[in-house]
Amino acid sequence: MTKALGIDIGGTGIKGAIVDVDSGELLTERVKLPTPEGGSPKAIVATVLELIEALGGVEAGIPVGICFPAVVHNGITMSAANVSHEWIGLEAEKLFEKGLGREIHFVNDADAAGYAEVRFGAAKGVNGLVLLTTLGTGIGTALIYNGVLVPNSELGHLEIGGKDAEHKAAYSAKEREDLSWKRWAGRLQKYYSTLEALFSPDLFIVGGGVSKNYEQFFPLLDLKTPILPAVLRNNAGILGAAALAVTENAAIVGPNISPK
Ligand code: BGC
Repeated sequence: MTKALGIDIGGTGIKGAIVDVDSGELLTERVKLPTPEGGSPKAIVATVLELIEALGGVEAGIPVGICFPAVVHNGITMSAANVSHEWIGLEAEKLFEKGLGREIHFVNDADAAGYAEVRFGAAKGVNGLVLLTTLGTGIGTALIYNGVLVPNSELGHLEIGGKDAEHKAAYSAKEREDLSWKRWAGRLQKYYSTLEALFSPDLFIVGGGVSKNYEQFFPLLDLKTPILPAVLRNNAGILGAAALAVTENAAIVGPNISPK
């Protein structure tokens, strides 16, 4: 059994658990704390520490993976579509490492979710190009080819008809504009047809909270590519961040993180 801690930072909640990255099972309860108002870097690091305390601390040598809803390049957060602008250009990985007193592996949230689906979920054993999209406040995407993640794809920001795709087709657009399933599916049709034309994927996976209602909108889509709902839902970010921490950085070791 290979243990790792996965932490998923989102716009409304910060979730974490210790997981077995061989089986994809959670070894502790999933702790969820609200994202601090404003989402400033300092406040988020403090909440992550609180979350680790709530888990009873983390032993030395256990890899820690954290995912975040922004482009993450060489540990630096390069965008902030739905989070505080203070994150743009910030050495976020270093900030967490300083705050936690040990090394971490830091990745984009959709990349973590996509990787988790390939390792443990709907895309397990699928070869070729898997394109995961998360439909939430924004649209997150993960491109995975033969099990290898191509990070920071950001296809939620494709410009379709002169508009940012996530602004028109994220689940938040359905809610904000009170769109029926049919009208929202019309927008999703445009979005997924564009992805199909550009990437010819072998499989689409749809994550995000609304994927539990996939029966309401999948039948309204006409696509050549098979499309499946994500199976890991709420735990995808945690599992993917933890699994990537082990895969990408097998040698991470550090001191215990213990409750004060
Ligand atoms: C961000 C992505 C993120 C996605 C889902 C988008 O607005 O640009 O980095 O993965 O939202 O959280």
